[in-house]
Amino acid sequence: MPRLTRTFTDRFSHSPEGVWSAPGRVNLIGEHTDYNGGLALPIALPHRTRCAASARDDDTLRIHSLQEDSLVEVRIDDVAAGHPGGWAAYVAGVLWSLREAGYAVRGLDVVVDGQVPLGAGLSSSAALECSVAAAASDLFGLGLLDTAEGREVLAAACQRAENDIAGAPTGGMDQAAAMHCTPAHALRLDCLDGSTRQVPFDLSAHDLALLVTDTRASHALADGQYGARRDACEKAAEILGVEFLREVDMASLEDSLARLPDDVLRRRTRHVVTEIARVDAVVEALRDGDLAEVGRLFVASHESLRDDYEVSCTELDLVVDTAMAHGALGARMTGGGFGGSAMALVPVAEVERVSSAIAEAFADANLTAPVSFSVTAAGPAHRD
Ligand code: GLA
Repeated sequence: MPRLTRTFTDRFSHSPEGVWSAPGRVNLIGEHTDYNGGLALPIALPHRTRCAASARDDDTLRIHSLQEDSLVEVRIDDVAAGHPGGWAAYVAGVLWSLREAGYAVRGLDVVVDGQVPLGAGLSSSAALECSVAAAASDLFGLGLLDTAEGREVLAAACQRAENDIAGAPTGGMDQAAAMHCTPAHALRLDCLDGSTRQVPFDLSAHDLALLVTDTRASHALADGQYGARRDACEKAAEILGVEFLREVDMASLEDSLARLPDDVLRRRTRHVVTEIARVDAVVEALRDGDLAEVGRLFVASHESLRDDYEVSCTELDLVVDTAMAHGALGARMTGGGFGGSAMALVPVAEVERVSSAIAEAFADANLTAPVSFSVTAAGPAHRD
């Protein structure tokens, strides 16, 4: 019996009714655009979080994790901002939020096994939320995994859990990726209306690989920097008289910038507007098989995040610069930034050379050793 189900049975003295899983993600491009009603282009990672679960007749959640040797017990009615704290908030928050949305959910016994690297900016929290949401949908007969609309409901419930219970003011990209991404495709996600389009993404046909590097530099979205970026975007939108910065297009960008009162708001806005334009530029370049152009757009995105949005850091810049100096077609930070992961588009034959060069550059700079791995586009949350 696999360790997950064996642990469940040992802990709760009965077998789980099933095992569900959901993936982490890397975002190819479209960073810090989701909360601006913009576009993003994530792929699902092969790394997944699994949860073994069974329904209870009462309102109690009993939550255990293979990575944390503790049992958290909480009633759904008692779940609130900051309660429970820590990783269990992502589990309990999902049940709370489904109930808030009007779904008849009850308690669960749950054991989770998180195989998405933690704190790496690869959406381990969304993977956890979405695996639990998938379990709840099946165990309580909600049927929400079966349709795209249902998956949208689950993604929204998971985002609400993260915002309201775990206290991280994130946009909805990570949860949408975990619910909608399909193998060998990137997901063109329109955060204004929630619509999605599958974009074929098979780098092996071009003898290329996507090398992800977890810098191991701390990355905490609940701290003030992420929220400060959101606030700046909302302020700029208000001054420009639009609901979201998505409504500012490239043609009107210069005029809009001229109407903003300070340099910080101008740079934040310029990042968001140019980044949204780069998403469809990447979609087109992928369609045309122009991977050199995809690489150039990755670099332009990184420079914009580094200089205008100011969410990069020494470690992320070092991955990008080292990868580019050793033959990558493009490289950029991915996810929220301030640490976490970067990725590079690298010829398959150069993957070892580029990842060794990154490791050496970190050693030379006396930084914690990074972890690099190649990824392909994997599938969404489902019952295993
Ligand atoms: C984090 C958030 C997402 C998104 C990205 C930046 O991953 O969870 O909602 O805002 O940062 O693109």
